[in-house]
Amino acid sequence: MKIAVLSRAPQAYSTQRLRAAALQRGHTVKVLNTLRFAIDLTADEPDLHYRGRQLSDYDAILPRIGNSITYFGTAVVRQFEQMDVYTPNTANGISSARDKLRANQILSRHNIAMPPTAFVRNRADVRPAIERVGGAPVVIKLLEGTQGIGVILAPQVKVAEAIIETLHSTKQNVLIQKFISESRGRDIRALVVGDRVVAAMRRSAAGDEFRSNVHRGGSVEAVELDPIYERAAVRSAQIMGLRVAGVDMLEGDDGPLVMEVNSSPGLQGIETATKLDVAGAIIDYIAGQVAFPEIDVRQRLTVSTGYGVAELMVHGAVDLVGKTLGEAGLWERDITVLTLHRGVSVIPNPRKHVVLEADDRLFCFGKLDEMRSMVPERRRRRAKVRRLPRQPLSE
Ligand SMILES: Nc1ncnc2c1ncn2[C@@H]1O[C@H](COP(=O)(O)OP(=O)(O)O)[C@@H](O)[C@H]1O
Ligand SMILES: [Mg+2]
Repeated sequence: MKIAVLSRAPQAYSTQRLRAAALQRGHTVKVLNTLRFAIDLTADEPDLHYRGRQLSDYDAILPRIGNSITYFGTAVVRQFEQMDVYTPNTANGISSARDKLRANQILSRHNIAMPPTAFVRNRADVRPAIERVGGAPVVIKLLEGTQGIGVILAPQVKVAEAIIETLHSTKQNVLIQKFISESRGRDIRALVVGDRVVAAMRRSAAGDEFRSNVHRGGSVEAVELDPIYERAAVRSAQIMGLRVAGVDMLEGDDGPLVMEVNSSPGLQGIETATKLDVAGAIIDYIAGQVAFPEIDVRQRLTVSTGYGVAELMVHGAVDLVGKTLGEAGLWERDITVLTLHRGVSVIPNPRKHVVLEADDRLFCFGKLDEMRSMVPERRRRRAKVRRLPRQPLSE
């Protein structure tokens, strides 16, 4: 294949390793400076120029978009997507992951355990928010920080309030987060490629530092990941729409607490710690996708005939828990189950004797109306419309 690594740091370890891994496997690879693209919107077909010249054809890109150029970088990635060039990380995935609040909001809808977090703006709401997440010491985070910069541990509520007020006064948005003390300055970084963790390490903070980032002097060691951590990492990356991701998790008393999902994970620390060829795994995955791409079935099959693809949740929908797929009566309704999703595992073409569990999701093809009728109407919290007082209020 012909692949472009989008990076502004051609000499950086990660870029060099990805380039070498691609060459070693006989691929054609170019490192292209993200900021030298020009997005062309005049022509009928989506197009890109690089360094003033028409870009040649690529099979795939691997975006490594730094924090400082998220907006332009994701615009370039989106343009590649529109040109049907494969990217493991979509523009949407990259921008959602970059914003710690947005990522938290998305992940929390999918039962991913995270440290209790609050987001407020008004001064009066700061103290109650700190108390709600568990009081001092409390962690304060800038929404778009990276490498540990912009992550502060405030020892007392008063100090936390002062810091947050100062940041708010300079128009910076911050998250208020419970300090997970049992993690003791350590965290887990899992490198997810596709549907699996290809390497994992534990990072430990230096001295009395609580941030374990390698850029803050943290040390690294390889770890054998508990399957629970593996599942949390893979699911988090999948939910964010990232096929290459570095998932950071604190080791909480009750298991993994996902802190963030990085869309351009550094490779130096993890390859050094684990001695694994992570760059090679990434290139192999991309090559596999280029050779045999996953199509977006949802988009391709939703046609005007009223047939399409939909996801049915087993619990909540008509209650199918405990029944076999056959008993669920889907085929009778002209609904074909394409895949059954259970946690991170996917059962393709599930057989009729498979017994359904509470958190299963069924990816189905069939008549859209029929499938819609199987989903119960959401209980909506309707805002009550108050009656006006009979007499107009006196001024
Ligand atoms: N709630 C928390 N409790 C304990 N330690 C934390 C918490 N949040 C962050 N840390 C520590 O600070 C580091 C940096 O935080 P993170 O949210 O990953 O920001 P960054 O994007 O700057 O890496 C983490 O790797 C972890 O060691
Ligand atoms: Mg981090």
